[in-house]
Amino acid sequence: MDFSNRDVVSIRDFGKEDILHVLDQAGKAMPVARGERRSDVLEGKILANLFFEPSTRTRLSFETAMLRLGGSVIGFADASGTSVAKGETLADTVRMADSYADAIVLRHPMEGAAKLAADFSSKPVINAGDGAGQHPTQTLLDLFTIKMEKGEIADNNIVLVGDLKYGRTVHSLTYALSLFGANITCVAPPTLQMPPEIVSHLKGVGGRFNQSESLESVIPGADVLYVTRIQKERFPDPEEYRKVEHAYRIDNALLANAKRSLIVMHPLPRVNEIAPEVDSGPYARYFKQAFYGVPIRMAILSLILGKGEM
Ligand code: CP
Repeated sequence: MDFSNRDVVSIRDFGKEDILHVLDQAGKAMPVARGERRSDVLEGKILANLFFEPSTRTRLSFETAMLRLGGSVIGFADASGTSVAKGETLADTVRMADSYADAIVLRHPMEGAAKLAADFSSKPVINAGDGAGQHPTQTLLDLFTIKMEKGEIADNNIVLVGDLKYGRTVHSLTYALSLFGANITCVAPPTLQMPPEIVSHLKGVGGRFNQSESLESVIPGADVLYVTRIQKERFPDPEEYRKVEHAYRIDNALLANAKRSLIVMHPLPRVNEIAPEVDSGPYARYFKQAFYGVPIRMAILSLILGKGEM
């Protein structure tokens, strides 16, 4: 299993053993991620964070991961302050980052942008979200959260709810879950259901999968409730967004029928789909999930840029 200098464009580039290896490395990284132990395995390495779309967790956790491992970070959080504002192409921006840094993390509104960047860069490119496409490192941290909080990934009843059409985190996650034999239930308004090509993939690999519009009916059997924001910025028609913006809301009343062992996850940011009263209850794991982004990204960076150990 050689991760050295590898691009991370799609979760589909990872087999089950690759994923388990990253999760294993992330487990070992926990003391360093918490700041309890120091590591300098990436000393002298530079990461370029190129964020053409807003981000809190992905950008800051990549930055934290790099700094915790002794490396350095350059980049931008808003392309309007760069020569993109003068018309520079993505390919040329990537060429520049390639010549200044040892690896590139890219978030971009265009699906396929990370693949394009990887084609123009000799250094490893990590997809931090490409439009409604994929968000592979989010998937790795989602799987890590399930493993840490539930013990196993396989055989859980996993309910994905919200915007399954435009939400890239659920696209990557569904592909990965199909490797682990989890039972997936997709809950969304008909206009926001999982894209047909992902449904076909699940059926093709014999995945246990069903779709529903009703969240109430699936809550009692759920082991993991993975909530997503309705992705307002990706709707071509604002009127279509208004029809579904309040489709689902997770609150204590809804969770009254849940298993005691249920965990509620969300890639964040949330808008109004999880009531704040859930935060202090027994089910919420979304803030812990966001922290797990640090050990996962440490694992990825050390495997790609270093020797894997921390
Ligand atoms: N989960 C996630 O991608 O969050 P950010 O948009 O804040 O990076």
